[in-house]
Amino acid sequence: MNIPIRIAGLGFYVPETVITNEDLTKIIDTSDEWIRTRTGIEKRHVLSGNQTSVEMGVEATKRAIKKSGINVENIDYIIAAASLGTHIYPSCACEIQGIIGASNAVCFDVTAACSGLIYSMGIAKSLINSGMAKNILLVATEALSRCLDWTDRTTCVLFGDGAGAVMLTVSDDGQDDIAAVDLKSFGNLGHYIQMPATGKNCPLAVPNDEEKMFIKMEGKEVYKFVVTKLPIFIEECVEKSGVNLKDIDYLVPHQANMRIIEALEKRLEFNSENVISNIQEYANTSAASIPIALVEAIEKGKMKLPCTAILTGFGAGMTAGTAIVRLREGIV
Ligand code: ACO
Repeated sequence: MNIPIRIAGLGFYVPETVITNEDLTKIIDTSDEWIRTRTGIEKRHVLSGNQTSVEMGVEATKRAIKKSGINVENIDYIIAAASLGTHIYPSCACEIQGIIGASNAVCFDVTAACSGLIYSMGIAKSLINSGMAKNILLVATEALSRCLDWTDRTTCVLFGDGAGAVMLTVSDDGQDDIAAVDLKSFGNLGHYIQMPATGKNCPLAVPNDEEKMFIKMEGKEVYKFVVTKLPIFIEECVEKSGVNLKDIDYLVPHQANMRIIEALEKRLEFNSENVISNIQEYANTSAASIPIALVEAIEKGKMKLPCTAILTGFGAGMTAGTAIVRLREGIV
């Protein structure tokens, strides 16, 4: 059985509070020029007060569901990619379910850092293609501003908060909008990007060294890994999809660093017109960065529908994920 999938609706949401590079110079020894030339980032949106990643996820989700026209009662699964949900449990997916009233959905979170949305898409593809589910909601919602050491200039300038959602359903015209997904994991490279969990030993045991829950990163190693390996993974996925690389309209990469995006563009022979980037505005929003870039580019007319696109990301784990998708009119 191979039941085809339709990408039925997309949505994104970012919090209103904006922090510019210039603002950051008030709290760390940095400059707009350093951040801009090394990363392409100019500003980022961050949570403020008691706003939560679940609330961002709900906003993005509502937009994707509305566009899809699917009744929330008919959602079979909610799969959330969230580095920091409001709680470790209940899962972010369960919390979103409770708020939107998707009472028949099975809900769980995926931990694959910035590759989380593509990992979720891979799981959803298997579930729909095999006939185990009809309607699946994917949500990536990231609150990395709460996982940063705001005195560490090597990491805190890089990230922002935001959420994106993708509503998937069964296709009734035979076209599978998710032509291929390719996922990779490299646990041996886990030290490249880490966010330690916290927790104290039982007082009757030997005390442990408690780590702070901040992102730590070997930026140069990540950079080298991505620019050498990701193009190979992308080419493998394109081959698996049966689509010719030259016939793919757009490349929508994870928004981690403008120099990485440009290296991919060059290596895969795309150009600035068909590579989607909005890192300037939002910085690295981890798993949410691909859907945010995708929806914004469609809304602004930079991406014309219908089209084909490569969605590709990488992140802590190390993990990497690529999907070759077809995007129809009316999904945004
Ligand atoms: N402002 C000013 N100076 C800075 C800053 C800053 N914000 N940060 C670092 N520097 C300094 C360093 O201290 C260093 O100074 P030194 O030469 O006196 O020691 C100098 O700038 C160069 O630092 P590098 O780390 O060598 O800078 P590099 O050119 O490698 O750029 C960066 C760093 C932007 C992090 C880059 O390595 C990169 O983007 N790597 C990939 C990161 C990435 O993609 N991460 C994905 C994370 S996704 C996830 O899963 C969470």
